[in-house]
Amino acid sequence: MLLRGARVIDPASGTDVVGDVYIEAGVFQAEPLTDDQNARVDQGRTKVVNGTGLVVSPGFVDLHCHLREPGQEHKETIATGTEAAARGGFTTVCAMPNTNPPIDSPGLVEFVLKRAKETGIVRVLPIGTITAGRQGERVADLEELASAGAVAFSDDGSPVANPQTMRNALMIARNLNLPIIQHCEDPAILGDAVAHEGWVSQRLGLTGAPGAAEESLAARDIELAALTRAHLHLAHVSSAGTIDLIKRAKDRGRKVTAEVMPHHLALTDEWLLGDRGSDWPTGSEYDTNLRVNPPVRSPEDVEAMAIALRDGVIDAVATDHAPHAWEDKAVPFGEAAPGISGIETAFGLLMTRLVHTGVIDLPMLITRMTIGPASVLAGVPGLGTFSEKLGPDVVILDPNQEWTVDPDEFASKGKNTPLTGCTLRGAVVATIVGGRVVHGEKALDALERVGG
Ligand code: NCD
Repeated sequence: MLLRGARVIDPASGTDVVGDVYIEAGVFQAEPLTDDQNARVDQGRTKVVNGTGLVVSPGFVDLHCHLREPGQEHKETIATGTEAAARGGFTTVCAMPNTNPPIDSPGLVEFVLKRAKETGIVRVLPIGTITAGRQGERVADLEELASAGAVAFSDDGSPVANPQTMRNALMIARNLNLPIIQHCEDPAILGDAVAHEGWVSQRLGLTGAPGAAEESLAARDIELAALTRAHLHLAHVSSAGTIDLIKRAKDRGRKVTAEVMPHHLALTDEWLLGDRGSDWPTGSEYDTNLRVNPPVRSPEDVEAMAIALRDGVIDAVATDHAPHAWEDKAVPFGEAAPGISGIETAFGLLMTRLVHTGVIDLPMLITRMTIGPASVLAGVPGLGTFSEKLGPDVVILDPNQEWTVDPDEFASKGKNTPLTGCTLRGAVVATIVGGRVVHGEKALDALERVGG
């Protein structure tokens, strides 16, 4: 297929051009085409379609998602989670280890890789736990986890609160050249909070916790990472104060990286009142689909996240795709399982909230969803860099296509989105992994034929 007149954005090579893209099993050739490709087009052996308005870029990389296998297959499986990822434009996803049992032994890492090979349609990179049983005390055998294929370590869902345990883990991970990913929420400050502490939590009678719950643990771990010269990656940064800490650490040359989630870039705590802003219909108060760790925060925090993403203080967008079952959310707000099913809405939400509003431009968003996350995994052999030319993992985007979020149409088993009924501008048309179309075959077939 020849996509005529598409915009090719490849942050790895700095490409941003409008031209023709030749797509054939495993081959993505932006202009100039080879003689053989030109001959195929001229002789009508390759279908030529109108690609005007479409964008071709490397596939997205998600540093943080929950695929729930093993143990919670009623919430998600590697099959359904990777199908959801493909619809979201992600060609590589890192699977968090807070499964049941948690991924704290090499056999379990191998299990995830095996299931991914058998049932997954995008690349799955397993993350191992930091501590045995994800209990927060004894460091797991990180060397064995790495040998089995773990690309990073995290107790995500819970922080490693014990500083001695964290120091030991950082020391071991440093020698493996792999990142420790910390879920920064200090349990002592957090208590039983279920929302961001502020006027909204007060008005609604919800127990809140301040951004300081995140900042205090981030500050501690940044110092421990400096002490051990390890790579610390901060998961789901949400508080403006944390940005200042990351910036200071980076300015001092510390190996600290960070990710931010679409919901912390686009949703404020005012959504808990049902106020989804002027563009979207009013939601319901106490929508349990907004119960997430860390919580959706103040408009000032949200603004700080966007600026930090633009300026590179935050390296990557990650989704924290956290699918839950209906019954986990059909309870009072404070009792709901935390998490948002977000991998299928990430691109559309960020296009709508950040790109179409002029906060960041499209090439920057693509950078933070591709080479940004890949660079966090730079220590993993074979990862961390994109090749100089496109492919074989590619996504085709329509930055202006509007669609309305309906969780019944999700591939994910998790229908827990706070975006139901919101119209987003920006869609994933097709996703191609290793040269194979894993999402959007029909959409590609439906493109206007202009030759071949
Ligand atoms: C995550 C989940 O459901 O596994 N939930 C969430 O709210 N982010 C784990 C977690 O980080 O708490």
